[in-house]
Amino acid sequence: MTVRNLFLLPGDGIGPEAMGEVRKIIAYMNTAKNAGFVTDEGLVGGSAYDAHGASISEADMAKAMAADAVLFGAVGGPKWDAVPYDVRPEAGLLRLRKDMQLFANLRPAICYPALSAASSLKPELVEGLDILIVRELTGGVYFGEPKEIIDLGNGQKRGIDTQVYDTYEIERIAGVAFELARTRGNRVCSMEKRNVMKSGVLWNQVVTETHKAKYSDVQLEHMLADAGGMQLVRQPKQFDVIVTDNLFGDMLSDVAAMLTGSLGMLPSASLGAPDAKTGKRKALYEPVHGSAPDIAGRGIANPIAMIASFAMCMRYSFNMVEEADALEKAIANVLDSGIRTSDIMSEGSRAVGTSEMGDAILAAFKTLSA
Ligand code: IPM
Ligand code: MG
Repeated sequence: MTVRNLFLLPGDGIGPEAMGEVRKIIAYMNTAKNAGFVTDEGLVGGSAYDAHGASISEADMAKAMAADAVLFGAVGGPKWDAVPYDVRPEAGLLRLRKDMQLFANLRPAICYPALSAASSLKPELVEGLDILIVRELTGGVYFGEPKEIIDLGNGQKRGIDTQVYDTYEIERIAGVAFELARTRGNRVCSMEKRNVMKSGVLWNQVVTETHKAKYSDVQLEHMLADAGGMQLVRQPKQFDVIVTDNLFGDMLSDVAAMLTGSLGMLPSASLGAPDAKTGKRKALYEPVHGSAPDIAGRGIANPIAMIASFAMCMRYSFNMVEEADALEKAIANVLDSGIRTSDIMSEGSRAVGTSEMGDAILAAFKTLSA
């Protein structure tokens, strides 16, 4: 039987509650479908800091590196606001991304028909929305050196972050965007700030050259990232695939997420390069939402982004395409049936908590995959 090793890092806040709903689906896949998922679990973020004084332990880091896929919940919360910068909860996530070399972050923003009224935009602007943001995840200002606060000695300090991109980093993320575009609407919009930033000038050049050399069948457009943000809220359906750097991708994906009704809906996949020998990619799957400390532990969090992240995991790490399709369809069916967690609640729907939503999706998934 195939063994599929999953390493679960539920993290902080609503992370563990959301992960609990994914566990139910994994258990069902194993008993009913012989899926062979073997799970191990570790700590990341504030919970790791409380246990080990680090945002992820070396032992858990090694397990993440060895797993076929990592499922990640969320990190952070006010409890850890004052911990040293190097061991803040987010450092655990950033280390996972960097050490596993997960340079390609796929953030789909899909508006489920049942939720078009939950968007802050008019329903007709978001109905049928299907965008994929491809965010560069291991470079740019997140990791560039120097990164420090220095004392200027005159009563002033200077905070420094460095935005830096090399050709190969832009080439490989552009390649991922073009390849994915071919499986969808065949259009890529690249976003940077070439009018202000040298890294933006290079980004624009390399994307253009990569397109010309290998992907001229795909339609390519360039947009300044600020204009891109504006277009995302003005006419979001004009986009198919958006490729952008780490920081712009962070912001634009939050904007895109909100178009779909709630941050609680959106999954993401972070992928490395395929291994030269095995063809396997290192991968981490996480919801776009954060730890939502204000609602943590109350059983009301929306588990859909976490469950949809597991669907992406089946699709991209295990090529379980039918199962992934069925799980995504199960989510859509449950929303059609009119139940809602509080973040996506609308008039005429029935409010449910985290586990009731998870159970309903599991039941729909069972029906679809029977
Ligand atoms: C995200 C998050 C992270 C980021 C934080 C938690 C470090 O906002 O995944 O979008 O900035 O990348
Ligand atoms: Mg973010």
